[in-house]
Amino acid sequence: MNPAFPLVPEQAASAAGEVDALFLFILGVTGAFAVAIWAALIFLAVRYRRRSPADRPPEIHGSIALELTWTIVPFLLMAVMFVWGAKVYFTMNRPPDDAMTVSVVGKRWMWKLQHPTGQREINELHVPMGRAVRLVITSEDTIHSFFVPAFRIKKDAVPGRYNMAWFRATKAGSYHLFCAEYCGTEHARMGGRVVVMEPEAYQTWLAGGPPAESPVVAGEKLFTELNCITCHRPDSAGRGPVLQGIFGRPVRLASGDTVVADESYLRESILNPAARVVAGYQPVMPAYQTQVSEEQLIALIAYIHSLQVPAEGAPAVPPAP
Ligand code: CUA
Repeated sequence: MNPAFPLVPEQAASAAGEVDALFLFILGVTGAFAVAIWAALIFLAVRYRRRSPADRPPEIHGSIALELTWTIVPFLLMAVMFVWGAKVYFTMNRPPDDAMTVSVVGKRWMWKLQHPTGQREINELHVPMGRAVRLVITSEDTIHSFFVPAFRIKKDAVPGRYNMAWFRATKAGSYHLFCAEYCGTEHARMGGRVVVMEPEAYQTWLAGGPPAESPVVAGEKLFTELNCITCHRPDSAGRGPVLQGIFGRPVRLASGDTVVADESYLRESILNPAARVVAGYQPVMPAYQTQVSEEQLIALIAYIHSLQVPAEGAPAVPPAP
């Protein structure tokens, strides 16, 4: 790409090359058709203009070959865009299993980020090069949008839900981070940078900051402080479901439906437990809607994620009633 005339931003993540190739393909196809259609329009308008009031053009009865061509050629081109687009979409929405999770909370007007090891950052995110980073994105107030052009990721930060995005940085350096959703007077300033570091430099950076409490440890404390531990016991003798090993697993609900216990479901079950009750349990849990902040929620969920299945007994998923 010519650096003096960059058609696309710098490519600094694994998905960037394919996103750009697809974009340029679509741009090329639509651009070529736009030019061809306008050229034909102008040429035909001049060539077949009405030359006198008595002009009577001959009747035309269509052409099967022509109609098939203008149906099949665009169809094939669109099919390529669809299949290719779907492939890129799935790649960009399925983080690899070994990805490290960074939580992102948008707030007027800043980005609050936390590493899995507990380090917190504002408007800056340091990440190791070559490692998949999964972002769990939410907002404390209004809708924001987490946008890093060099990584080709843009995901809305929506209050009340978690959105996911992931990237694998391929080039050390510092890249712009923007808020891409108008969120109020300081929207234009709600940005920062993502710093991609060599893995060793990242480790040094992690060790250099003040000692941090990981979300898992913070979550464990909250789990006790909020008395979650009274009902959610590891031995299935509690009044609430056993949480050991529940993360990422399907759970049968009282309604007969099944839901995967991911971040979004756990979040809902903490804030509004009556919404989707696990089969075999009573809706007795109080709602924590006003009692926990976004950061505390993330910590609680990280703690639940860390809980392993106990050595014996206690099925994580209750049997059908
Ligand atoms: Cu936050 Cu715009």
